[in-house]
Amino acid sequence: MQAHRDLFATCGGRRLWGVASSSNFSASGGLTIEPLPVPQGPEAAASPDFKAFHALRIAHELALWGDLNHSATLAESFMFWQGNEYEKRQVYLARLDGVVVGSGSLTLPLSENTTTAGVDVVVDAAFRRRGIGTRILKFLEEAAVERNRTSLDGYCGEPIAPVLAGEALLEAKSGTGAVPLDAASTRFALHHGYSLEQVETSSTLTLPVDEAHLIALEVEAMRRATEYDIIAWTDECPEELVDRFATLKSLMSTEVPIAGLGWEGEEWDAVRVRREESTWQASGVNSVVAAAQHHGSGELAAYTVLTHREALPAVVNQEDTLVAPGHRGHGLGMLVKIANLRSAEDLWPDATCVMTWNANENRHMLAINIALGFKPSGFEGEWQKRLG
Ligand SMILES: CC(C)(COP(=O)(O)OP(=O)(O)OC[C@H]1O[C@@H](n2cnc3c(N)ncnc32)[C@H](O)[C@@H]1OP(=O)(O)O)[C@@H](O)C(=O)NCCC(=O)NCCS
Repeated sequence: MQAHRDLFATCGGRRLWGVASSSNFSASGGLTIEPLPVPQGPEAAASPDFKAFHALRIAHELALWGDLNHSATLAESFMFWQGNEYEKRQVYLARLDGVVVGSGSLTLPLSENTTTAGVDVVVDAAFRRRGIGTRILKFLEEAAVERNRTSLDGYCGEPIAPVLAGEALLEAKSGTGAVPLDAASTRFALHHGYSLEQVETSSTLTLPVDEAHLIALEVEAMRRATEYDIIAWTDECPEELVDRFATLKSLMSTEVPIAGLGWEGEEWDAVRVRREESTWQASGVNSVVAAAQHHGSGELAAYTVLTHREALPAVVNQEDTLVAPGHRGHGLGMLVKIANLRSAEDLWPDATCVMTWNANENRHMLAINIALGFKPSGFEGEWQKRLG
C-alpha cells in the first residue's frame, strides 16, 4: 500500500452531486454524493456520518470473510482518513433519498507517486446492481483528474473458497496469481476499464506456533547469521536507531515486487517514522519490531513489524518485512520473524492468528511464511487504470 498523508484541503461540502436524471440510472433517482469532513478530536467517534461510512465497510467485510479479521477498527479508520503530510485522503457518502447507500474514498499521495490516486467504492448489499457503484466511481475518477492524477489504483480482497471450488479465474498481468472472475469486485473493475496488475496472497498462521518447530527453523537459520544480533522494540524505535530504521523503510518501498504498477520509491526519514508510530498509537494500534543488527558496522540489516489492536484482540497483522540487499542469504528474514512471533505471543496472549499479505511472485518471503506454517486464506487484487 502507498504511504499515508494529511486531510483533504477541499473537504467540507465543496462538492455535492445530484444525479437524479441520468437515463441509465433510473433506479437511483435522488442520489447524492457528498464529501464527508473527517471529524477531528474526541467527538469523532460519535459522528453518525463517519460511523455510517465505517459501518458500510465493516458490513462488507463481515459478509465476505465471516469475521472482522481483515477490518480496521473505528479508531484506526478515523485516524487513517484524517490523512497526513504524505497523503491527502477524502471520504464520500452516497445517499438515495437521504438514506446512506454507499461510500467512496480517494487517497492522494503528496510526496511521491503524485500522479496516482487510490479509489475505493462500497455499495450497501441491498442497493447493488442499480448503477450506484458506477456513479460513485465516476465521481471519484473526476475528482482525481481535477487533481491532476493520471493513474488510478484499487485494492479488492477476496477469500480463497471460490478458488478452491474451481471457479473461473482471472490471471494477473504479472503472470502469477489470480482472482475469481465472477466476484462482484472483479466484474465491476473490468467493466470500468481497470486491469489486474498484481495479486497478493493473504495467509493466516494459527497461534501459538509450536516452539519446537520455531527452534528447528531458528537453529538452521543461525548457522548462516553469525555476524548479527537480533534486537527488538515496541511502539517506538530507539532514538539511536531511528535514522538507520528510516533507511530500511525507504528500501521497503523499492524492494518489494510491484509488477507493472510503476510505484516510485518513498523517502523515509526519522520524522516519517515517528509520524507512523504516533498515528498507530493514537489509533489504538500497538506494534512490535524485531531487527537484525550487523556486528561490525552497526547497520540495521533486516526488520519485521507486527501490529495488534486491543479492539480486535484475536488478530495480529504482519506489516513490513525486509532484508537489505547486501545482507541477504544469511537467514535473517527467518530469524527476525521468529523473534517477533515470540514477542507477539508474550505481548498479546489473546491473539489466535497472524495475517499476512505477499505478492505471489515474492518467492523468498512466501517460502519463509510457508515454513513457519502460514496457510493461504485469500487474495487481494491490485487493479490499475491509466488515464489519457
Ligand atoms: C463492486 C460494487 C462496488 C459494485 O457496486 P454496484 O452499485 O452493484 O455496481 P453497478 O450497479 O454500478 O455495476 C456496474 C457494472 O459492474 C458489473 N458488476 C457489478 N456487480 C456485479 C456482480 N455482482 N456480478 C457481475 N457483474 C457485476 C456489471 O458489469 C455492472 O453492469 P450491469 O449491471 O449493467 O451489468 C459492490 O458490489 C460492492 O460494494 N462490493 C463490495 C466492495 C467492493 O468489492 N468494492 C470494489 C472496490 S475495492
